[in-house]
Amino acid sequence: KVSYEPLLYVNGVRRVLPDGLAHLTLLEYLRAKLIMGHSTFFGAKGIGLTGTKLGCGEGGCGACTVMVSSYDEKSRKCFLKMFFQTLCYQCLLSTSIFCRRNACDYSGRIGKLQESLYICALNMKSLQESMAQAHGSQCGFCTPGFVMSMYALLRSSQTPPSEEQIEECLAGNLCRCTGYRPIVDAFRVFAKTNDMLYTGISSVSPEEAKSICPSTGKPCSCNSNNVNDKCVVGDNRYKATSYDEVDGTKYTEKELIFPPELLLR
Ligand code: FES
Ligand code: FES
Repeated sequence: KVSYEPLLYVNGVRRVLPDGLAHLTLLEYLRAKLIMGHSTFFGAKGIGLTGTKLGCGEGGCGACTVMVSSYDEKSRKCFLKMFFQTLCYQCLLSTSIFCRRNACDYSGRIGKLQESLYICALNMKSLQESMAQAHGSQCGFCTPGFVMSMYALLRSSQTPPSEEQIEECLAGNLCRCTGYRPIVDAFRVFAKTNDMLYTGISSVSPEEAKSICPSTGKPCSCNSNNVNDKCVVGDNRYKATSYDEVDGTKYTEKELIFPPELLLR
């Protein structure tokens, strides 16, 4: 049965948008909840998921970033594996203006928010842990947006991203506390480590590159050749996490699938 009511899947849960939401931004819809009969968000009736933050409200800071997926009819990419690998990088590019768009604009979409990180996605958790261990979060207000941006990059990449791609993907997220270095440090453990060793650092010969610790990506005397080895010498603030751990193909049971209902719309 094809339904034409405004519909969203949020973290895998079907949500029919009630009438009268045309004025509501997606962010307001996501965050608002009722406490003692009163809305926490300017009278809006939402679903109370507050992981997504309101920062600038103007599309400039990335605090409101969520991940959205759409079905591409031309390429017909919505199969499980393809779905993971094509998941919303294009949508990600527009997520920085989510705070300016209405919830109804997103009907027929599937979204993923911070709340689900704790419930169903181990791979997301590894992103959060890296952030914590590298001290990439201070006041924490920007953290959900950074994590979502990074997660979307990993899920939409068919190979491990380079460090440059990681920095580029975080370009729309602002942080007023950390100075960005700890955040980039936190995520660089997800970079394509071998490339980083032998081609990413052009001024270092392959011979010299052997002295770069694959665990931290920095010159080090540990002589380790294995990314899974724990570096006992160099900067060891965060543990290395291999790309395999965030490869969506390993989490098919726990990750979202594109709802068949939305394919018919
Ligand atoms: Fe700043 Fe949305 S709140 S980009
Ligand atoms: Fe405070 Fe980023 S940790 S804004």
